[in-house]
Amino acid sequence: MTVENADVLVVGSGIAGCAAALGAARAGAEVLVVTKASEPEDAASDWAQGGIAVTRDDPESFRDDVLTASDGEADPEAVDVLVSNARNVVDDVLLDTLDVAFDTDGDGYDFGREAAHSSRRILHVDASTGRHVLRPFLRHLQAHDRVTVRDDTAVLDLLTHEGRVYGAHLESSDTERSAEPVFAGATVLATGGVGACYGRSTNPDGATGDGVAMAALAGAAIEDVQYVQFHPTAYVGEDDRDGGSRDDGDEDGPFLVSEAVRGEGGVLRNATGERFMLDVHPDAELAPRDVVARAVACERARTGEVRLDVSALDFADEFPDLAALCEARGVDPADGIPVAPSEHFLCGGVAVDDRGRTTLDRLFAVGECARTGVHGANRLASTSLLEGLVWGLRAGEAAAGNEVETVEAPRPRDGDPSLPPSFAETKLRRLQTLMDEHVGLERTPDGLRRATAALRRLKGEVDAYTRTRTSRELYELRNACVTGLLVARAAAEHPSAGCHRVVADDEGEGPPSGGRDDAEEARVRR
Ligand code: SIN
Repeated sequence: MTVENADVLVVGSGIAGCAAALGAARAGAEVLVVTKASEPEDAASDWAQGGIAVTRDDPESFRDDVLTASDGEADPEAVDVLVSNARNVVDDVLLDTLDVAFDTDGDGYDFGREAAHSSRRILHVDASTGRHVLRPFLRHLQAHDRVTVRDDTAVLDLLTHEGRVYGAHLESSDTERSAEPVFAGATVLATGGVGACYGRSTNPDGATGDGVAMAALAGAAIEDVQYVQFHPTAYVGEDDRDGGSRDDGDEDGPFLVSEAVRGEGGVLRNATGERFMLDVHPDAELAPRDVVARAVACERARTGEVRLDVSALDFADEFPDLAALCEARGVDPADGIPVAPSEHFLCGGVAVDDRGRTTLDRLFAVGECARTGVHGANRLASTSLLEGLVWGLRAGEAAAGNEVETVEAPRPRDGDPSLPPSFAETKLRRLQTLMDEHVGLERTPDGLRRATAALRRLKGEVDAYTRTRTSRELYELRNACVTGLLVARAAAEHPSAGCHRVVADDEGEGPPSGGRDDAEEARVRR
């Protein structure tokens, strides 16, 4: 069966993809949104806890906070786009269109505080804001007469010819699992992050870096992918105290403990009960995320564990969703919640302009897979949903209005899609181990060299199968390998800044020059 063509094809159904679909539909386009997930809400946006930062009467200080958190690496013009559009998109989409019931207190909205924000400016719904935004957004689009949302539909490759993107090869039960072309006037990548490249992540398992990899393979520019942000406080289960893996299954698996908990007074203590962040940074637990993540990792290595002490707040009352997750894991918050850093967000990605345009004609990228320039070397808390909304709407609007054209494009193989038993799983584990060991919170020149060589070999093994087979899991694995390689290579080439930190290796070889290691000395206790 052939899948229909579309004026605008949106790949991914998180908040950025939804905003792109809305922007394009408002501009009169017929929009097809596809997601490989079995439910459209199975996206990282649905898991977002903290909320959405908005400007109140303080655009200048919001702007400064974003720039400071970015370790000076954000693009000030992109930050201006974010900040100047924040209030409008929240009013227009979240309040007027979707009627999201953000938490209130007696005087109006209950604005929350998170790390590295100089004031309270986070709109939230409990600590499960993403779900309360994404689900009504999807319902709104599903009822829209110019939007079709298809789940269980993976994009395998982009259809490109001479620097222009004409659509993509899709695979789904509708195409009987073979690759079928869908032609589009414009294609918007909104595929999310790269969490599946790491053993511990706050992302859904499907975060295999698909958008970054497909755009790179099509020839689009990729930037800043050395900046992989680790969240300092993911719950770490009993069997997972050494840093952990995904093997433990969901019952004891990691979950994010929102920065909002620290914003409301939660403090970090090491195994001896010491509140170590006081010695690390003047803002203690509310220091930029990269600083807190490295300090937590350091204290875990030095003393054995770190717990988030929530005794200063009424945890169950203020964070009922998180209290329920603790209860499900058998954790009594009164004892402190055991936490460890966990891969959380890719700050770089497919390079885009202020309308989400990539370097390829008719290809756009929005949300976590895009590098807008807003996050620099370290993303400020609760700016990802906002960035997805702002760039999604702008990209969707810009993507509308192109004629759908067809092109001869090489088809992926339609041969036997089966793989050797456990092939994809085993190779993905290998990739995760390499990324955890060498491309994590702290990197060395030698480790990055070894990871790059091993990832190249792994990609070669996977490519040998993609030449003759077209299975979805194989393409996801290819995407994870391509993305892992891009991250490792970028990390080897760039000096330390923000969440990318290269330290001297055992042979004494130092990091690439020009980094911020001297400043880091002052900021971070070793
Ligand atoms: C959190 O709630 O701590 C995560 C928010 C974010 O990543 O922006």
